[in-house]
Amino acid sequence: MDIDGKLFKKFLERQETYEHQQKEFAADKQHSKGKLTAKERIGLLFDNDTFDEIDAFSLPASSGGEFGRIVNAYGDGVITGHGKISGRIAFAYAQDFSVMGGSLGSIHAAKIMKIQDMALKMGAPIIGFIDSGGARIQEGVASLAGYAGIFNRNVKSSGVIPQISVIMGPAAGGAVYSPSITDFVFMTNKTSYMFVTGPNVVKEVLNEDVSFEELGGATVHMKNSGIAHFVYEDEENTIRGLKKLLSYLPSNNLENPPLVEWRDTEERVEELLREIVPDDPNKPYDIKEVINLIVDKGTFFEVAEGFAMNIIVAFARLSGKTIGIIANQPKVLAGTLDINSSVKAARFIRFCDSFNIPLLTLEDVPGFMPGIDQEHSGIIRHGAKLLYAYADSTVPKITVILRKSYGGAYCVMNSKNLGGDFNFAWPTAEIAVMGPEGAVSILYRRELLESEDPVKLKKELAIKYRDEIANPYVADEKGYIDEVIDPAQTRRKLITAFEALENKHVNVPSRKHGNIPL
Ligand code: HXC
Repeated sequence: MDIDGKLFKKFLERQETYEHQQKEFAADKQHSKGKLTAKERIGLLFDNDTFDEIDAFSLPASSGGEFGRIVNAYGDGVITGHGKISGRIAFAYAQDFSVMGGSLGSIHAAKIMKIQDMALKMGAPIIGFIDSGGARIQEGVASLAGYAGIFNRNVKSSGVIPQISVIMGPAAGGAVYSPSITDFVFMTNKTSYMFVTGPNVVKEVLNEDVSFEELGGATVHMKNSGIAHFVYEDEENTIRGLKKLLSYLPSNNLENPPLVEWRDTEERVEELLREIVPDDPNKPYDIKEVINLIVDKGTFFEVAEGFAMNIIVAFARLSGKTIGIIANQPKVLAGTLDINSSVKAARFIRFCDSFNIPLLTLEDVPGFMPGIDQEHSGIIRHGAKLLYAYADSTVPKITVILRKSYGGAYCVMNSKNLGGDFNFAWPTAEIAVMGPEGAVSILYRRELLESEDPVKLKKELAIKYRDEIANPYVADEKGYIDEVIDPAQTRRKLITAFEALENKHVNVPSRKHGNIPL
């Protein structure tokens, strides 16, 4: 090859221009806002020197006319490519806000769609860094069509490859819907926000004043909307968190999650577990302490920890193998199931089931949350999602009932007849149609009305009810519980039970898809 020739010179010139654009132009704009450039984000995500960019020299389309003005930047505002993350292949795109606000034009969209198609074909995770003003206004319908194409691919990839969105600046308009279809959304505090319509439109339409942060900042989406699953203080930690999440996941739905060499002992007996449930059934305790004592040390990784905190969903490892945990949290709202906790857990179960991640349910739930607000907002419809997700899942499923397991909540939380493979209970379990106080009020209404000391009588009856009905032994004797176990032995029991379920196979009848109550 003639390296002094015209074509080679052009090759070098293009390279130089692109590098200059990324280093100087993008860096100045982004760093002044306390943000990294698209290139720097990609650099932090992938193992050193493993990332290969494609379509780096794509140019934006111009629609001509007054509104056809565009910035003629290489790449059209998005870096796309593939590389290795902790040795495993992954695909990624990173929007570059310094090019027309990271807005999505037709070429920008085509690049993302190309990488989505590749990731799906290769069975590798796809990660999208979003930093965008949404549909590129100058390109009109072509940008809207671009978004529609991306959403279509998001849906086709759902349950086949892990899709993860990392919001690292604005995600406005069309930029919000792709992340919300993907499996997990990461946000960075203070520098990222998501909204369908921004503060200006809110002011115009509703005459309400609201800041970017109040409308769609990371805190709002972690605590109120539940859209953000992970929030970190800065971009470096966000990317570190993302890599940690990936370490629990398989690359696609045909693989098992990676097996990690673990140094924890299989036989670990935790005497502390015998004392963790308080004698007083109305006293709370922290279910996270239980989880930490059961799983491989240091592997508890919580998802959506700021949203619907009455239920915990988390990844962890048991003897080096990934499991998904769903656990009622007695410390928050007594661990009751309400709309948000039902939806949070249901979506997590669907994810784990798609990606061959066995489920462990730790149960201490007094029931569904009563009240006008919950009923009118649709607890029936939303609670049904959790039921459906459990019953529909075919991965190995184990439940341990620690304390309360009453009424509908008993049925929902992976009970035996809903499809639980192994159902264990601690001696402290209370399994019944309802709690003692409620039950005796109904069954002994007349006697209590006629009694000279109804408080004393109710107390006595409640104790009897606990002894006769609300305990684990009735369910154990009828086979709804496979074994009442010593809490201290829980870890060992779970390891051997999951091992026994390793080759679980369920034949699902042929159908297009079920109709989950959305
Ligand atoms: C074209 C855009 C753009 C867009 C921003 N820019 N958004 N160009 N199309 N959608 C350009 C700006 O003109 C500016 O160009 C540069 O990007 C940086 O923008 P600034 O406004 O200076 O930045 P900042 O102050 O940080 O504000 C960021 C922002 C704001 C909040 C995102 O730009 C904004 O409100 N943009 C519009 C957001 C929006 O309403 N999008 C919805 C589109 S409709 P210069 O040349 O000055 O650097 C949509 C519907 C799709 O997406 C529906 C699918 C379901």
